[in-house]
Amino acid sequence: MMDVAIEFRDVVKLFVSLDGRKQTVLDHVSFTIPVGKTTVIAGGSGQGKSVTLKLVLGLMRADEGKIFVNGKDITDIGGRELEDLRTGFGVLFQGSALFDSMTVFENVALPLRERTKKTEEEIKKQVIETLTQLELAGHEDKYPAQLSGGMQKRVGLARALQLNPEMMLFDEPTTGLDPVMTQEIYHLFARTQALVGYTSVIVSHDIPKVLNLADHVIILNDGKADVFESPEEIQWSGKEHIREFVKTTMGQIYQSHLMEK
Ligand SMILES: Nc1ncnc2c1ncn2[C@@H]1O[C@H](COP(=O)(O)OP(=O)(O)OP(=O)(O)O)[C@@H](O)[C@H]1O
Ligand SMILES: [Mg+2]
Repeated sequence: MMDVAIEFRDVVKLFVSLDGRKQTVLDHVSFTIPVGKTTVIAGGSGQGKSVTLKLVLGLMRADEGKIFVNGKDITDIGGRELEDLRTGFGVLFQGSALFDSMTVFENVALPLRERTKKTEEEIKKQVIETLTQLELAGHEDKYPAQLSGGMQKRVGLARALQLNPEMMLFDEPTTGLDPVMTQEIYHLFARTQALVGYTSVIVSHDIPKVLNLADHVIILNDGKADVFESPEEIQWSGKEHIREFVKTTMGQIYQSHLMEK
């Protein structure tokens, strides 16, 4: 039995529009995310991928069902408990969310200054170490506007790693990057994960590229989740919407397998 980092148990999330119409984004969704592995959450635009991450972070509340993080029921927690929960996560969202008026060094040092009692010297040592790991040494005095898109993402990753998170959540981390840089960022994620050992959850449109990293895949569609123990498993699915997904996102090679069936 693998260790479970995150579990959704029969989760319902719905939104009610101003005119009273109900939209069920997650309709009794259940899945588990394994510890120390990379789980990719895929699915079309508006299928609830970002909502899923927000539920994990307690930024949104489930309407029904339960959510567990490290075995602890976080469905209804608040206050201090919620703060502690969030501290355990490193988060890298679409934009890198760097502070424009702060240098690379200051951006990366921020969580250490706000959340720890480390001395300036310790902070400097740790920040420079991470920047070196992510091939950003020598750029610490630059401002975000002076960096390329890929560098900005790496600074965002460096900052997210400062508190040694057990889990990293990435929401479309390669948006706006060219294909080469996208590939590089994914290699970097794989290397960093091997080094640090965190549980990784990546929401991405980059199919099939991101599947090279995936141990586990969750595809959200029409309020439901399909869970695959490996990326290879996706192509053998008999479900129509998954076959359609494979056809449109994974292309000919994968498609040929389907044709043989
Ligand atoms: N705060 C909110 N209020 C109302 N509706 C919302 C809210 N947040 C999300 N939704 C709706 O929930 C659905 C899922 O949104 P979500 O952001 O999770 O999509 P997504 O899968 O991340 O899509 P994308 O790939 O475009 O980022 C969308 O239809 C969206 O309009
Ligand atoms: Mg989204």
